[in-house]
Amino acid sequence: SIKACLFDLDGVLVDTAKYHYLAWKRLADELGFTFTEQDNEKLKGVSRMASLDILLSVGQLEFDDAKKLELAERKNSWYFESISKMDHSEILPGALEFLKACRENGLKTALGSASKNAMTILNNTGLTPYFDAIIDGTHTSQAKPDPEVFLLGAKALSVSPEQCVVFEDAEAGVEAAHRAGMSCVGIGSADTLGKAELIVPSLQEMTIDRLKELNAVR
Ligand code: G6P
Ligand code: MG
Repeated sequence: SIKACLFDLDGVLVDTAKYHYLAWKRLADELGFTFTEQDNEKLKGVSRMASLDILLSVGQLEFDDAKKLELAERKNSWYFESISKMDHSEILPGALEFLKACRENGLKTALGSASKNAMTILNNTGLTPYFDAIIDGTHTSQAKPDPEVFLLGAKALSVSPEQCVVFEDAEAGVEAAHRAGMSCVGIGSADTLGKAELIVPSLQEMTIDRLKELNAVR
């Protein structure tokens, strides 16, 4: 039976995608090329350095590692400015309610995010107390679709992977959940998340009953 819910952060609990986009776009502007919102879709769920590589390929630019590190740090300083101003109003609809429902029903909760900025976002939005374990980009060495982040989450909660359900908005995250041996609820549309066991537009449509139905299907 399901004992734990593991949550991605960006795009599942908070809408930080817009801040990532603004910061990447600013970098592209400085480097002299156009970076569209459509290009930005490819960066969702992808680690910071891998995102930079995708961005640079859009601009058809190549740099050495030292320069790339500098560019990634520049982007992150702008992104950090945005998330420093976040508060609880930027929690996505239904997220807080569902986290509370999980805990009221005896389910453990963990964060499973690629972001190295996760703690700043969780603390500024007031979400930190709702997690039994927090695994973020400072704990992992392998990016999604590698299952590392979710396996570390299960381990921290002392539950086995088949007792976990992952909530993800990115295709790479759905794959990471499956490679971890966990089922996955996709947050968003079936276009990108088709492989998830259940897809809902947002956590507002998610209930403990639907979670149990998911378990019955497995
Ligand atoms: C999440 C986001 C990505 C972001 C990554 C790393 O997966 O969806 O857009 O690039 O985290 O975030 P960071 O805050 O460490 O740059
Ligand atoms: Mg995400």
